[in-house]
This record gives sequence, C-alpha cells and structure tokens, in this order.
Amino acid sequence: MKNLIDIYSRKKKDIAAIEKALEESVYTDHAMLRETSNHLLKAGGKRIRPVFVLLSGEFGQYQLETMKRVAVPLELIHMASLVHDDVIDDANTRRGQLTVRSKWDNRIAMFTGDYIFAKALGVITQIHKPAVHQIMSKAIVEMSIGEMEQIRFFFHSEQSIRDYLLRIRRKTALLIAISCQLGAMAADAPDWISNKLYGFGYNVGMAFQIRDDILDLIGTEKQIGKPPGSDVKQGNITIPVLFAMQDPALEPLILAELERIHKLDGQTDVSRFLDIIRHSEGIEKADALSQKYIDKAIASLDKLPDSQAKKDLIEVAYFIGNRSY
Ligand code: IPE
Ligand code: IPE
Ligand code: MG
Ligand code: MG
Repeated sequence: MKNLIDIYSRKKKDIAAIEKALEESVYTDHAMLRETSNHLLKAGGKRIRPVFVLLSGEFGQYQLETMKRVAVPLELIHMASLVHDDVIDDANTRRGQLTVRSKWDNRIAMFTGDYIFAKALGVITQIHKPAVHQIMSKAIVEMSIGEMEQIRFFFHSEQSIRDYLLRIRRKTALLIAISCQLGAMAADAPDWISNKLYGFGYNVGMAFQIRDDILDLIGTEKQIGKPPGSDVKQGNITIPVLFAMQDPALEPLILAELERIHKLDGQTDVSRFLDIIRHSEGIEKADALSQKYIDKAIASLDKLPDSQAKKDLIEVAYFIGNRSY
C-alpha cells in the first residue's frame, strides 16, 4: 500500500497552492479570530477532502484556480465542523494539539466554527453554479443532523447497526461524497461522471469513519492525535462495539462497562472496556465492513475513463481502508 505522501506527490504543487489559499481565506484583522482559526489550520491534517476535489477535477477541464474555489471551502467546512465537534465531545486534543475549546473556551470555539463556516460560503460564491451551492448547503444540513443524532444516541446501548450507519453517512460520508462530486462539477465534467464520483466518495467516506472509529479503540495517542477511548468516554457507541455486543458472552460485560462509564460521565479509566473490545471479534468485523465499502467505492469507478487520476483515487481508497492515522 502506498503512503499518502506518495499518492499526493503528483499533486504536490497544487496542494501547496491550496494550503496557501486556506491561510489567506481565514485571514482577518480580528486578532482573536485570526489566532483561533489559524491554530487548527497550522496543526495540519490529511487534507483528504481537497485531494478528492483535485483528483475528481481531473475528469473534466482542470484549472487550479477553479479547483481552489471548491477545495478550500470543503476543507473549511470540515475544519469548522471539527471545532464544533470538539465542543460536543469535550475533546482536549486534536491533530496532536490542544483543541480551540481547550486552549480558549467553548464559546470561542463555537464562534470560531461559525466564522470558518462563513468564510467557506464566501469562497464558494466564486463558483457561479447554483447547483454547487445547493449541494454544499444540503451537506452541511445533513452534517448538523448527524452530529445531533450522535448526541441523541450517546450511551444508547440498544441502537442498531443501521442507526450507526445512518449517522456516519450524515456526519462524514456525505461531505467526502460531495468533495468528489463538486470537484468534477466545477471542472465541467459530464453529470454521469460527477455522479459516479459521488458514489465513490460516499463509499470511501463510510469506510473512512468506520476506520476512524476502529482507530479510536486500537490506535495509540501518537497515531490518532488524541487519547484512545475518547469515543466511549463521550458516550459514542461505534460499530466495533456494536459488533462485539453480538457475542452473548461479551454483551453483559460490555453493558456493565458502558453503564459504569456513563455514571461517571466519562471521567474514568476505560482500559478495561478497550481491552474487551480489542479481544472481541468487533474490530475484525468492522474492518471487514470497511473493506466492503472500499471495494464498492472502487467498483463505482469502473466505467470512468482510465487515467492517472483514477489510479490515484484507487490508491487513496486503499490507503483509507488501512490507515493508521
Ligand atoms: C476527522 O477527519 C473526523 C472524521 C470525519 C473522522 P480527518 O481524519 O479527515 O481529520 P484531519 O483533517 O486529517 O485532521
Ligand atoms: C467526525 O467524527 C466529526 C465530524 C464529522 C464533524 P468524530 O467525532 O469521530 O471525529 P474525531 O474522532 O473527533 O476526529
Ligand atoms: Mg469527535
Ligand atoms: Mg473519531
């Protein structure tokens, strides 16, 4: 499997241009907003959504200026949602750095998120296609619902796999799906192509979040930029846990742990919980499902013309299916 850096190398110059455009896009005379929004930007991140925009744009008439106007807002929307997500999750670290809410406070994080969202809207208006704006708006609405649903389901041990899948579709997969779709649309690729790319992005996005949820359970703090077990501490029951609970021998143990963690409001050691899940079949089953989504994603590209961009999308998909950061 190729590493992200190797996959990105062909687009290195364009990714650097997007990085610069991102910095410019959040610049403001307001010192506090400038500091808070730069804080997260400077911490890095995989920039996977911009990369999907660029690769998808290659299926049409690729122009860097146009691509920037789509890639920047998508990364900004992602960033804004992370700043807000860390408030919801009471998270103290992200990308190996303090979160905005922890370095400043929750209120400042809420407005920083709003500010970054607004900046995303400003940039996308440079694309004169109402359909693009509508698709973006809808995706943000779905993300908000996904995050609300996540709160509603906190510590609900009786939720189904379907509840989980619907939630991650909204909070994660759709934004990745539209990164691919809008990249192609902005480059004037034919509709059938942007639709196929949407399907690719959607399936990759599902695998992406499942992998994220696996990593939260099995990863090290160094790999994931935050302490493992953060999901369960906040009450987020993810698919490896749901799969693990299908084992009748483990179910009561897991339920007891969940109840204990819930009672203590997540302010407790979760190593026993992690231990149970790590030794269950939950991880393997989740991984198998994630691989199924990756296979589906790659199959969505079948009819697309063979090109370097197509090869790269396949490489990114494999990376995502196996990623450890
Ligand atoms: C984290 O997204 C949140 C999820 C949707 C799982 P990323 O893993 O893309 O975060 P960064 O941008 O690389 O930090
Ligand atoms: C992704 O979910 C958050 C959004 C889609 C906004 P997570 O809550 O799993 O992301 P991390 O694990 O905090 O990065
Ligand atoms: Mg989170
Ligand atoms: Mg997570």
